[in-house]
Amino acid sequence: MAYAYLFKYIIIGDTGVGKSCLLLQFTDKRFQPVHDLTIGVEFGARMITIDGKQIKLQIWDTAGQESFRSITRSYYRGAAGALLVYDITRRDTFNHLTTWLEDARQHSNSNMVIMLIGNKSDLESRREVKKEEGEAFAREHGLIFMETSAKTASNVEEFFHTAHS
Ligand code: GTP
Ligand code: MG
Repeated sequence: MAYAYLFKYIIIGDTGVGKSCLLLQFTDKRFQPVHDLTIGVEFGARMITIDGKQIKLQIWDTAGQESFRSITRSYYRGAAGALLVYDITRRDTFNHLTTWLEDARQHSNSNMVIMLIGNKSDLESRREVKKEEGEAFAREHGLIFMETSAKTASNVEEFFHTAHS
């Protein structure tokens, strides 16, 4: 299919926060309940239409485990955007955001847009990070912010549509 623009995105963040599930929900509209640990990097793509223009999003889903960090770093190059994901039910994944941000800024083009996602918004009863904390972190670092659920698909479509603009 012909397209007017091609955008490359990279998804980063701690292991288990739901990076692969967000991608699967966006490309296949399905949810994977089991943690299928990503090894190295996986890849997904989908077309979206914005203002009548066909846009192809090419998305690189990286492994959150520490041992893959050097592989992840080699994928920042050429990315128009990075989706930095934490899990609202695990405070440690929120605490690690600064390290992720430093890594992303250091290894990418200076014009790469970084977007913050607080995922698993369906698990309200297990929430450890307030939405306001995510908003404050995003404001402080100049990031776009949304809470999403890869399970219910809440805000997933919205997010990928806002992300490129
Ligand atoms: P790595 O590949 O190891 O870096 O992890 P990942 O960030 O890709 O995590 P993955 O997408 O595999 O999801 C980890 C676990 O969280 C799985 O058991 C998912 O089913 C679950 N999960 C992901 N997103 C959501 C969500 O929005 N809500 C709920 N309830 N569970 C989720
Ligand atoms: Mg994964």
